[in-house]
Amino acid sequence: MTGAHRVVVTGLGIVSPVGVGIKHAWQSIIEGRSGIRSLVNERPDAGYDQLPSQIAGIVPRSDSSAPGTFDPKMSLAPGDTKRMAAFTQYAMCAAQEALADAEWTQPGDEQRERTGVCFGTGIGSLDDITTSYEQFKAGGLRKISPMFVPKILCNMAAGNISIRYGFYGPNHAVSTACTTGAHAIGDAMRFIRFGDADVMLAGASECSLQLLALAGFSKIKALALGFNDSPEKASRPFDRDRSGFVIGEGAGALVLEELGHAKARGARIYAEVRGYGLSGDGFHITAPPDGGAGAQRAMRSAIRSAQISTADIGYVNAHATSTPLGDKVENSAIKSVFANADRLAVSSTKSATGHLLGAAGAVEAIFTVLAVRNNIAPPTLNLDTVDAADGFDLNYVPHTAQERLISSALTNSFGFGGTNASLVFAKFVK
Ligand SMILES: *[C@@H]1O[C@H](CO)[C@@H](O)[C@H](O)[C@H]1NC(C)=O
Ligand SMILES: *[C@@H]1O[C@H](CO)[C@@H](O)[C@H](O)[C@H]1NC(C)=O
Repeated sequence: MTGAHRVVVTGLGIVSPVGVGIKHAWQSIIEGRSGIRSLVNERPDAGYDQLPSQIAGIVPRSDSSAPGTFDPKMSLAPGDTKRMAAFTQYAMCAAQEALADAEWTQPGDEQRERTGVCFGTGIGSLDDITTSYEQFKAGGLRKISPMFVPKILCNMAAGNISIRYGFYGPNHAVSTACTTGAHAIGDAMRFIRFGDADVMLAGASECSLQLLALAGFSKIKALALGFNDSPEKASRPFDRDRSGFVIGEGAGALVLEELGHAKARGARIYAEVRGYGLSGDGFHITAPPDGGAGAQRAMRSAIRSAQISTADIGYVNAHATSTPLGDKVENSAIKSVFANADRLAVSSTKSATGHLLGAAGAVEAIFTVLAVRNNIAPPTLNLDTVDAADGFDLNYVPHTAQERLISSALTNSFGFGGTNASLVFAKFVK
């Protein structure tokens, strides 16, 4: 890369169904552990038994700060749990880990002006909307909290992060359905390339494991059916028996930094953010066009902007949500873009986490960065039978992680509305 500022990743933080904290979550991912469980078992009286799909990727919680679990008091002051929606609480936790990891928790005043936040969510706080409405109907205005409006806003995670750390640079929040996380990271990278900031905390959060959300996704027939009694088998991207996606929750945060800035302070560099490509299908709200033309455009432009060739990419973290049509179209798009597709490792970590909606692109960017850093392609769980007749003839890393040289990797995110983005991460080379 020449010319514009180069951007590198110097910190990571995660809240996910396969664990909280990077070390824990990555270990779970490469060991093939699933984070998908029964909502009926976890929340017995919540009414999930009336829905056709009763499973989800659920963030493990504890009130004893147990390793790998979410315990609000580890990242929030007393009272914050009332003032912040759950998606903001997850965001605060992931941001805290990423900033500590990057050793960027207490920059000086001038540096704080050059530090920004780009943090999104797909849905925001549906839970606060539905419960506040119930309270209003039952008890009128006096039941409505003054925190109601600020809590539900989609940019409040970005706001709260900047308030806690005093970051005075760009403060932005993306909401592009299931492409949110990828757009937040790509846009943050551009803020740095354009000179708007030296450091950006980028990512996304989602917390919509909520009756109304599941009911809505059931109505568009998007959720996995037939696995209520075997939740960990439900998310099976590329497999013949896949039947839909499994909803998940969590947050991913990355510290992105201008290369010279990172070097000057001796920061550890995980990888370089090399490429970013965006496209719209301009076709339909959920169905992809034949051959995945939109996905192809996003991947091609990400690779072009990375100034590398497809042969340099060793791993693709696919969007693949385990829906019959989506996986098939993405697979054919990957095959059209990569002349060397037979030498690629392609996997979907959603097989372990479920689909984190707005947060998916952020946690998958983290797994992609770690794949590049550690030369490990994470596995696709539950891939028992692939239909070669349907065009599924690549290396999908079934069941077990694969060690291989990964000098660059690409991650895809596609969202409702027909919005597609791809990011390319590469090993940092001087
Ligand atoms: C977070 O935002 C809420 C409003 O949604 C506000 O009341 C609270 O003080 C903020 N807390 C922090 C730590 O930024
Ligand atoms: C782009 O996003 C849409 C979201 O509606 C998705 O269905 C589609 O698969 C993506 N495009 C392609 C061609 O894969």
